Amino acid sequence: METLLIVDDDLSLLESLKMHFEDIEHDGAPRYQVVTATSAAGALRIAQEVMPSVVILDMKLPDRTGLDIIEEMKSLCGDARIILVTAFHDMETTIRAMKAGAFDYIHKPFPDLAALDIVVARALEYRQLSRRAATVSVESAAARLGDIVGTSPLIQQLVKEIGKVAASRATVLINGESGTGKELIARVIHNYSYDEPKPFIGINCSAIVDTLLESELFGHEKGAFTGANAVKPGKFELAEDGTIFLDEIGDMSLMLQAKLLRVLQEREFERVGGVKRIKLRARVIAATHRHLSDEVAAGRFREDLYQRLKVITLQLPALRERREDIPLLVQHLLERINEKVHKRVTRVPPEVLDHLTRLPWRGNVRELENVLTRAVVLAPGEVLLSENLPALEPAFPEPGQPINGQPTNGHHVNGTHGPSGPLLPNFLVAPIDDPSRIPTLEEAERMLIELTMNVTKGHKGKTCQILGISRPTLERKLQKYGVRQDQQQ
Ligand SMILES: Nc1ncnc2c1ncn2[C@@H]1O[C@H](COP(=O)(O)OP(=O)(O)OP(=O)(O)O)[C@@H](O)[C@H]1O
Ligand SMILES: [Mg+2]
Repeated sequence: METLLIVDDDLSLLESLKMHFEDIEHDGAPRYQVVTATSAAGALRIAQEVMPSVVILDMKLPDRTGLDIIEEMKSLCGDARIILVTAFHDMETTIRAMKAGAFDYIHKPFPDLAALDIVVARALEYRQLSRRAATVSVESAAARLGDIVGTSPLIQQLVKEIGKVAASRATVLINGESGTGKELIARVIHNYSYDEPKPFIGINCSAIVDTLLESELFGHEKGAFTGANAVKPGKFELAEDGTIFLDEIGDMSLMLQAKLLRVLQEREFERVGGVKRIKLRARVIAATHRHLSDEVAAGRFREDLYQRLKVITLQLPALRERREDIPLLVQHLLERINEKVHKRVTRVPPEVLDHLTRLPWRGNVRELENVLTRAVVLAPGEVLLSENLPALEPAFPEPGQPINGQPTNGHHVNGTHGPSGPLLPNFLVAPIDDPSRIPTLEEAERMLIELTMNVTKGHKGKTCQILGISRPTLERKLQKYGVRQDQQQ
């Protein structure tokens, strides 16, 4: 039987959770022994006494916050897995909680108890798997969260992961399309990793020619090559015991990849033209917009380096996968942009916001920032105008509606494989001269699935038949693209 400590000052919630967990059985016997506390002080006292396996800890307690006592709790019973519970969706606290060593962070009211059961069961599993992970100190107030804006599940998950990796010095690989915030995330990890300020040294591996990149990374001795008139320390040295951020590592040459691999393995390097071994003290964070597994398959990236880098990978979501964050991002970016361009564009009418949430955003947050900057500059007053935004791309024109200015004859849209042949989305039938208007393969796939689901009125069987895919494949793709299935059968 596992001991479960539940800490909350809401007595009725406490009671119902206690009953719920006491009812759970495992191999015919109760799975949990449940103890409760209503204050931070009480929780610490009881924890010391009963040595719980899992603690469900409310953030808001009468005497101290749940966050405040995580560390103490862990030092009293280091094996306990702590699940912090709060009513707030607050990123700062999420990161702090994960970094302080909370196992998970969940929001009240509980979506359903089954979800809570899963978190608790996972906590137990982890506890059995790993004897205690190293406790980590809460970072000083000087460390800043940075500007990760968003409340979507994908961003919440990411923030949790950042909290976890900030607690270690492990090498991290950040993967995401261009403009998804790779550098921002690298800085946040850095800021959250140290109590005192340490250097963050970034270098873009795609922007510099090979030989120069080598000496930029590792430095060079005097006379190492023509023009090397003095000793120059490289970025690895300048990063000291802080962070070196290797941006666009997917573009690094195979020759340098080999050198980098050796440095990561031996944690030592030499300056170009030098013999002295210099210790690698910096933490390495690498980023790329490329799919490194594809690069490996194509022979452009070393498999061994990839294996080494990918141990901790943070996958940044594309903006189109988290459109619900766009309103918040718009607000956040507008503040920044107004300051930069000395304007006060503060009002975004609902239809303009709607317009913004429906653009394809292939360039992600960076593109959103650029689009907003332009619209702010062009705004005549304090209101952001739709006319200053890129036009929406109607994927599937209504019957008779012009496709890219060409009138259609209407029968494009009246069937799936009618007399006029298969119905094709706009981007396939109309001439496109602007390459940025060509959708990605994923976007095209999503459009095609949405279109077919519309035409079949949500009939999945017919949809599979038309698209020539199996039912599980369709289900997976509907899930992946978040296609609404309100007419499904
Ligand atoms: N979640 C976010 N919240 C707020 N701002 C964000 C977020 N993600 C990205 N940004 C902003 O978007 C811009 C682009 O981010 P960043 O440079 O980190 O992206 P990147 O992935 O490194 O892009 P690139 O591939 O262009 O180098 C920055 O101004 C950054 O502050
Ligand atoms: Mg970048």
